[in-house]
Amino acid sequence: MCGIIGCCGVEGAAGALIKGLERLEYRGYDSAGIATISNGKFEIEKKKGRISALKNALKSHRDYAGKIGIGHTRWATHGAPNDINAHPHQSGKFALVHNGIIENYAQLKEQYLKLTNFKSETDTEVIVQLLNRLYSTSCLDAIAKTVKLLEGSFALAILCEDEPDKLYCVRQGSPLLGGVGNGIFAASDITAISDMAEIFYRMDDGEIAEITESNVNFYNFELERVEKERCEFAFEDMRTDKGNCEHFMLKEIYEEPEAIRRTVDAYLMESTIELKLEIDKPEQIYIVACGSAYHAGLVGKKILSELLKIPVTVETASEFRYSNPLLNSKTPVIIISQSGETADSLAALREAKKLGSKTISVVNVANSSIAVESDFVLYTKAGPEIAVATTKAYSAQLAALYLLAIYLAEKFKTAEQAQLDKLKKELKELNKKVSLTLDCEEQIKRLAEELKDIDHAYFIGRGLGYCAAAEGSLKLKEISYIHSEAYAAGEMKHGTISLIEKGTTVIAMNTQAELASKLQSNIDEVRARGAKVFAVTSGIDITADETIITPALHPLLQTSTQIVPIQLLSYYIAKERGCDIDKPRNLAKSVTVE
Ligand code: M6R
Repeated sequence: MCGIIGCCGVEGAAGALIKGLERLEYRGYDSAGIATISNGKFEIEKKKGRISALKNALKSHRDYAGKIGIGHTRWATHGAPNDINAHPHQSGKFALVHNGIIENYAQLKEQYLKLTNFKSETDTEVIVQLLNRLYSTSCLDAIAKTVKLLEGSFALAILCEDEPDKLYCVRQGSPLLGGVGNGIFAASDITAISDMAEIFYRMDDGEIAEITESNVNFYNFELERVEKERCEFAFEDMRTDKGNCEHFMLKEIYEEPEAIRRTVDAYLMESTIELKLEIDKPEQIYIVACGSAYHAGLVGKKILSELLKIPVTVETASEFRYSNPLLNSKTPVIIISQSGETADSLAALREAKKLGSKTISVVNVANSSIAVESDFVLYTKAGPEIAVATTKAYSAQLAALYLLAIYLAEKFKTAEQAQLDKLKKELKELNKKVSLTLDCEEQIKRLAEELKDIDHAYFIGRGLGYCAAAEGSLKLKEISYIHSEAYAAGEMKHGTISLIEKGTTVIAMNTQAELASKLQSNIDEVRARGAKVFAVTSGIDITADETIITPALHPLLQTSTQIVPIQLLSYYIAKERGCDIDKPRNLAKSVTVE
């Protein structure tokens, strides 16, 4: 989704901005632009398409000598992706870039800007036009007046020609942080500036930063000074190259065993799970997340309810936040998010806190909003994930949920200790089992060649197999653009089986021995109608057109190995189809708008 970078007091600011924007590319975008100030005047360039197009445009004119600037990658919400709608937007003495959505932009136009000639179709332009309109002598004053009129979410980086040595930033509901290095930086994502800054400050909602080349002052929207503590990031985790792989996604699939090992080792010492989580015995647990994180939540539900023997409800964050959930201090809410910035998940977290629930987050990105705002954070240790389609972060989320479930079951003595000891032992070995699963790669490449031209696929499974099916189906559709659906295998005959005809592809996920014979019946039903069935199974006998065998492990942990062949299959099918694997069309890595 949109990305912001800003810098002040940086020699060759344009170069630094482009470098930062390139590091934000993974978030997904459809246009990019920068603005610098040189000799007191703006130099603005923006282009539809990739950053390479922006670089070409920059080469063709001007020298962009300024030491201050702002940059943006835009993921279109209001107005088509084109040069005009791309950021920065300018009005009078102001130029700005914006992440988020201004929900009352139409009212603001009507109320304050009736006579203004708008150049773009964006909601963002309202902000810059308001700044221009409300400005008299002080930028800070104009910014404070403007932001108080805005409804929605916004992170802003603002330049003003009258104060050519100052960069202003604002955060309200969209992430933004500051960094001090050789110059001062601002970014929506640490990745953009991790190798240009050494000291970092996380902005909170309702804050304005006034940045000069040697100093940063923070204010609230009433323009009262706010004191900030620096925050720490683990930089050994910040490598973001593809290594020897053609795509980040493949590299990240290979990194899954390590992501699991690091997550398990961070909390499981010898045979004790160490979490400093203070919690009363829950009566019910809610899990809230989006996309793949929601699918991790489906697995979390199974293991938590099995070990804690209480009801566990999983909901997508976009539904949960508007569902008037019945929460109280006995109903903790677990929020799962790789980025820690997903707008709906963050809103769900805030709603849960408001209603008195203890909030526990499972997050990959340190100091992200969800991590900071939850009562307790269990960090996954997957390291930076660049491909839009999550793989290693999902696997690390599963490991974290296993740890949490076992920890709570031990704490409240809701399961046999022998069962928990066995699970812990297997958890220590989980990375090795996942590593062994990767051995199926050659078989998968052959299958991908066979399946590359299909138009539809159906994933089926029972129990944890259904959870794996849901995630597998999402993986295939998001990167290969093949229409795919996941069904609880027993549900097929209640409607969807009417779509099965000769040659339809069905992928069956088998995780639990006790459900295997039931799944086999469902496989037989679709095969009888002409479907070609590929089954992923862990040594449990399943008859299908082809089986992919994964190493056997404790049934409650089985999703961790089942998903790997499907991640690889999705990857190789997408590769065969020539898709943009790491940056699939229309998708963003971190979905920071509703
Ligand atoms: O950063 P989050 O884990 O909160 O993101 C949630 C979803 O947007 C994410 O899992 C998405 O579904 C992925 N593209 C799936 O690969």
